[in-house]
This record gives sequence, structure tokens and C-alpha cells, in this order.
Amino acid sequence: MGHLHNRNIIIGVTGGIAAYKIAELIRLLRGDGAAVRIIMSRGAQAFVTPLTLQSLSGFPVHTELLDETAEMGMGHIELARWADAFIVAPATADALARLAAGRADDLLTTTALATPAPVFVAPAMNQQMWKNAATATNIQRLIDRGVEIIGPSAGEQACGDVGLGRLSEPAQIRAAISAHFPSRALEGRRVVITAGPTREPLDPVRYISNHSSGKMGFALAQAAAEAGAETVLISGPVTLDTPEGVTRVNVDTALQMHEACVQHIKKPTAIFIGSAAVADYRAEVEAPQKIKKVGDTLTLNLTRNPDIITEVARSASRPSLMVGFAAETEHLIDHAEAKRLAKQLDVVIANDVSRADIGFNSDVNMVSWVDSMGHDVIPITTKRNLAKLLIARCIARMPQNCADDEHRATQSEDDS
Ligand code: C5P
Repeated sequence: MGHLHNRNIIIGVTGGIAAYKIAELIRLLRGDGAAVRIIMSRGAQAFVTPLTLQSLSGFPVHTELLDETAEMGMGHIELARWADAFIVAPATADALARLAAGRADDLLTTTALATPAPVFVAPAMNQQMWKNAATATNIQRLIDRGVEIIGPSAGEQACGDVGLGRLSEPAQIRAAISAHFPSRALEGRRVVITAGPTREPLDPVRYISNHSSGKMGFALAQAAAEAGAETVLISGPVTLDTPEGVTRVNVDTALQMHEACVQHIKKPTAIFIGSAAVADYRAEVEAPQKIKKVGDTLTLNLTRNPDIITEVARSASRPSLMVGFAAETEHLIDHAEAKRLAKQLDVVIANDVSRADIGFNSDVNMVSWVDSMGHDVIPITTKRNLAKLLIARCIARMPQNCADDEHRATQSEDDS
């Protein structure tokens, strides 16, 4: 039984060529046990007939805001209340602009405003329209209001252009919606996550560090806790609030982070995620007094820090699923796979940091999941949503007979 079983989902279809893909999305969602109702904009009806989507969803398609017969049945407020999730797919540039402006001049935008359910948008448009600053501003406004973004994906477009702008595949849209309704699959299991930068002191007042915000690791910890895990978040210095239900361990240096990891994986751990940006080197000697400026150059001797995730992967108490991150500027998948093998990890989340077109700000990300089966791209989405997707994938990818399963079995025997 999927997480979407018995969920009520509204798909708002707007006028893009990708509207035909909604037929497949309806099929997938209904296959998961969800009830699906469709709202179509006028433009959408030029691409797909309401009759097609009515046949697939099993409900009459809703098209008009001011329709006496519709209001006698399920009017816009009832529709808005009925929904457990509202997804606009494909969301055209115009639909995004109208949603961002809070317009309520047709059934789709009115229902989007009136629903207390989480709202998702799956944009689809020409790549130049996606890159346009107006679209970027609209997307950012929607993200700031809590709307989730699913895609767009990169590739060849109906207009012949190549770039970001394709509607995400129906399976990817379904994964994003279903990750929003987490199961409690990690109940009774431990997840240990590293996050943020480390700080390597040079003297009592100076240090070497990096710009890692810790946002991804904190979002992962929140998603793991929501899935029921006993979650330990080992964090370098960041200015983020600890997610509810998460045990936070604050550290400064890589050596401290290493020591904290060693301690916290002693108890059987289902998943370890290394999202911290650990400094590769530290000062060989930390100067006891402030280093004085003498001469035109200063030479610092640095020494290697332990590779924390590799040490954890090699330890006797190796967690069942080891997940690392790799930020790359070229040969994304090859480098990520090489890192996965070298560090003895199960999964590497590969992040192409050279792509300017992902855009906007550090609230969104587009990554590839790389494991022994191959790799696939997770379309652009917010870090909070990406975290849910990654945790859902980790749950699906966990080995059947984990070391921590044995632990759980012993525990329940002890309990009985
Ligand atoms: O080697 P690179 O820094 O690119 O590897 C990134 C992955 O390794 C991340 O998951 C990061 O948290 C982890 N790492 C670590 N300890 C280090 C360096 C990286 O755990 N000293």
C-alpha cells in the first residue's frame, strides 16, 4: 500500500503541450490508491479533452468557476476542502505568474487559494521563459509561501530548444507527492546525519572554514524524524533551528565531528548521511597566541583531516545504508561513482555545482542519485522537498536484512 492510499488529489492542468502527460500521472496516482479530480484551465482544454481526463480519473472534470450546476455539486470551496494535495501540472509561465500574484479569476487559481492542502507546481515551458527573471521571481515567491516546486527537467523541448523546461516525468511527480505523506517506516530505527561546515582553528581568533549553510542536512534530519527515525544530527557551526524531534550534537572541527560520529554509530544505525562540508585539512599546529603579521607572506602547514564518511563506512559498526554527497563541476556521474566506490558508500547524491541555470537561490537544488544500479536525476525542487524524496528513496533502498534489524529483533525479544 503506497503513501497515497485513500488520499484525495486535485490536479490543476494548464495549457501546455505537456498536458497529455497528465493521463499517465492520473493512472499512476490511482494505481497508488489515490482519488484524483481534475481542474482544467481553458488553455489546457485546447491540448487534451476533458472527456479523456474524466474517463481516466473517474470523475467529471471541473472547468468553470461560475457554473450553477457545478456549484450545486462540488463547488470550488468543497473542492478545495476535499483535497489532501493540489498539484498544478503542467504549470505554464502564465499559471505560475497568476498563482504568485494570488489571482482568483478562474476555478484553478481560486481553488489553489482556497485549499488548506499542500500545493505543488510542476512547471513546463520554453527554456528561455524558464530562465526569465520574471519567472524566477514568481517561483521564488511561491517557494517562500510554502509551495513545492517539482522540476522542470532538462532535455529536448517540443519547440526544438534544449534546456530546462520540460515537465518532469509523471513518475517523478508522483514520487514528490507521495514523499510528502511520509510513512513511519523508520520507526524504531536510527539515522545519523552530518551537516554544515567545520571550523579549523589557526590561532585563538582565526579559523579555516567554508560557506556550507547546513540547510540540506537539517532538512534531511527533519524528514528522517518525520519518518519516525531516532535522528542524530551532528552539525558544524550554522545558524539554523534544530528540527523537532531531532537530537543535535554541535561540533566545531572535523576531528570533533569524527569523534561524535564514532560515538553515535555505536548503537546500530540504519542510515548514515554525510552532508557536511568537512574541511579536508587543518593546521598542523594551532598557534597558542594570535599569529602576528611579519613579512609579506605567511606559510601555514596543513595536515589532512580524517575522511569521516569513509571511516564510518569501514568501521565495525557500519550503518546499513551509507549515503554521501558529491559536489562536482564536470563529469558529474563518473566522479560521483568513483567517489562512491572509493569511500565504500551505497549511494552518492551528486550535485552539479557549475550549473547556473538551476538558478534562483540556495533553497532549490537538482541532484542525481548514484548507486550500484546506475543513476537518475531528481528534478529541481526545494531542499525541504528534496530531503523528503531522498529519505523516501533511502527507505526503499535499505537492505532487507540490515544489521540494525537484528538489533531490533533482539530488542523486541528482550521486551517480550
Ligand atoms: O571527497 P569529498 O569532500 O568530495 O566527499 C564528499 C562526501 O564525503 C560528503 O558526503 C562529505 O560529507 C564526506 N566527507 C567526510 N569527511 C571528509 C571529507 C568529506 O565525511 N573529510
